[in-house]
Amino acid sequence: MTIATETTASETTAPGTTATRNTATRNTAAESGITVSRVNGRIGAVISGVRLGGDLDAETVAAIRAAVIAHKVVFFRNQDHLDEDQHEAFGRLLGTPIAHPTVPSADGRYSLAIDSDHGARANQWHTDVTFVPAYPAFSILRAAVLPPYGGNTLWANTAAAYAELSEPLRTLADSLRAVHSNAYDYVAVRPDATSEALEQYRKVFTSTTFLTEHPVVRVHPESGERTLLLGNFVQRVAGVSGQDSRLLIELFQRHIERPENTVRWQWQIGDVAIWDNRATQHYGVDDSDDHDRKLRRVTIDGDVPVGTDGRQSTLLSPSEVPAPSFGPASGASTAEAV
Ligand SMILES: [Fe+2]
Repeated sequence: MTIATETTASETTAPGTTATRNTATRNTAAESGITVSRVNGRIGAVISGVRLGGDLDAETVAAIRAAVIAHKVVFFRNQDHLDEDQHEAFGRLLGTPIAHPTVPSADGRYSLAIDSDHGARANQWHTDVTFVPAYPAFSILRAAVLPPYGGNTLWANTAAAYAELSEPLRTLADSLRAVHSNAYDYVAVRPDATSEALEQYRKVFTSTTFLTEHPVVRVHPESGERTLLLGNFVQRVAGVSGQDSRLLIELFQRHIERPENTVRWQWQIGDVAIWDNRATQHYGVDDSDDHDRKLRRVTIDGDVPVGTDGRQSTLLSPSEVPAPSFGPASGASTAEAV
């Protein structure tokens, strides 16, 4: 591929990105011929000049991976050719696809349906699947059916959020651990849903209840950046009582959600978004009334987080993550490789 890059990643250094990494991104992008254009100052880039699929060359895959690590979320337009198989095949170039610990896939073995009519609207800031220790490294989301208006997705840079903290708050965050669970208050999230829909969703999503203790600050295994690890699966800060725990979570979560740390994407059919699930939170805006919105997600295996003190995340309950109905258990395949 010979398309010249107009990568802007290296021109400035935003919090949560580094000059070294940005230069590496530019070089890799130039070599592969893809174009990486930043969307916002701290997060998000559009990649053009590539047709996603399972047959991409190693150089292009390396350039995409470097762009995801540097920009936290990258977007591709006009990928209408992707079907479930090609979506999964492309995912395999970034790592090992994994099944959701509790939610069965809709069609295609690893392709999870994110559908407006399944009761699973994601209008809460969250990082995918943080209720297990080795939660996914990457998520790859593809737009299949879109509403006539609304239904945008927002992402926030949790490395930039950490970097902007004052030094005493960084020290405090470094010292904390928090308990995440998939059992949370569904009624609060979906006040408009029928009780049958809520019950069905609760039954499937929490067929196993997980409790995992993560460090509040995770050292990113690829970039070395420190990222805040919170989101709506957090129940409490370990060892801190109720109100203090809520206040602490809110204190740090507010920094993550600051508009300067976010990007908002207006989906078109054929769009693909890839995000670094270890350095972001995201939020699906629920403003499309009853119109259909169907996205397909393939998630790529991650490793067990490590805090700034070197301590790993620990599974509190159950005693082990049950094997999924197919494929490797989360964290089983690339724990050493990533
Ligand atoms: Fe999500």
